[in-house]
Amino acid sequence: MRARTALLIDPRGEMPQAALAELERAGITVAETTGYGLDALQAAFTVRPALILIGISDPVARPLDLIRRIHDALPDSVIVGVIDTSARDAFEHAIAAGAAVCLDTRDPQAAFALAIGSARRHYERLQHGERLAAIEGGQVITVLGAKGGVGKTTIATNLAIALERASQGAVALVDGDPLFGDVALSMDLPVQSSLADAVADLSSPEPRDIREFLTPSFNVSVLPARARALDGALVTGDDLAAVVARLRQSFDFVVIDTGGAFTDLSTAAADAATTQILVTTTELNSVRDAARAIRWLRQRGGLGAPVPQLLQNRAGMRGGLSRPEVERELGVSVVWSVAEDKRLLQAMQAGVPVVERYPNCPAAVAIRGLASSFVHVHGSLRRPPPGNAGRRPLARLFPYTA
Ligand SMILES: Nc1ncnc2c1ncn2[C@@H]1O[C@H](COP(=O)(O)OP(=O)(O)OP(=O)(O)O)[C@@H](O)[C@H]1O
Ligand SMILES: [Mg+2]
Repeated sequence: MRARTALLIDPRGEMPQAALAELERAGITVAETTGYGLDALQAAFTVRPALILIGISDPVARPLDLIRRIHDALPDSVIVGVIDTSARDAFEHAIAAGAAVCLDTRDPQAAFALAIGSARRHYERLQHGERLAAIEGGQVITVLGAKGGVGKTTIATNLAIALERASQGAVALVDGDPLFGDVALSMDLPVQSSLADAVADLSSPEPRDIREFLTPSFNVSVLPARARALDGALVTGDDLAAVVARLRQSFDFVVIDTGGAFTDLSTAAADAATTQILVTTTELNSVRDAARAIRWLRQRGGLGAPVPQLLQNRAGMRGGLSRPEVERELGVSVVWSVAEDKRLLQAMQAGVPVVERYPNCPAAVAIRGLASSFVHVHGSLRRPPPGNAGRRPLARLFPYTA
């Protein structure tokens, strides 16, 4: 996606000057101008522009068909229909085909600015997964780590509890490591039914409500790992994805704890995420593995996928790297930082997550901050956590409105 480019589909050369002036004012370059034919599709694929302005005049069949095709192929490009007087009735049709906004060629310049602002918000929502969330349910926050023991379970359990407190919403916590996961242990939770049981039920002729498999703990609904030894060996990534898809229907947030490496299950959990949190400690080895994990997640994510958000855990631990050193090593910003804090171990040993047991210790405060970034930023429930410029490309594209 090239954030500062637009494609103009304007076979008659009638795009209003005001629209072109507005693009220029926003610092957006028109990469190409095409007609309604194959050249338009080819240019869209090659340029992958943030914005596509398409002139719509009667007969409207071709431009509407083109909007449909481009929208299907490049759902993250914002399409703005510019409709002339001959095609006044095409507004709704263009929106139905996939245009984010439509405007009339006779609109004064101010209307173009508004339309482009509206397109920007639409683009941000797409980037933030809201389009999917609206259809598929709640947010999915997957906690990943390239190495074992970096603090994934600690972060996932405490984040789930803090999210429930901050949002007053319904929160599910899934142990995505059916063989070795220890979410239940860290919450001192007796395992009544597990991920493996929920998966087995999915293939029964009349599956039960997935919520029946969850156990409440600290106001969070937990789907623990195995109930019986080796049950977990039967669970695949596809199974986990199916369970998460069900949970999203009933919960505002689904937090997934994952196993140590990028297994079939962790990969499925990463793919299902609307936000991926990648945990690393400040040890050099852990940071280097995180770099590999980020590259891998980005490669497989593709267009529109969430950018992994880096959480530096055990900050300040003896012999660890400083935050600037971690960032230099990785080439990405640390989005969240949780300090080395012995209260975490004490809390875990007591089977009470730290945000409950020692709510005022530095680690608990940091994790609550992490949770509230999903809930309170600008008052939006859907807004993703701050700190990664790459997730708000149009904020850079339209700096004057950001
Ligand atoms: N910020 C921290 N300060 C001090 N200790 C921590 C911190 N974060 C985690 N720990 C401790 O590190 C240990 C490993 O944490 P945790 O079990 O959460 O890691 P994990 O990534 O889930 O491991 P695994 O890959 O085995 O599932 C635990 O004993 C935990 O208490
Ligand atoms: Mg763990």
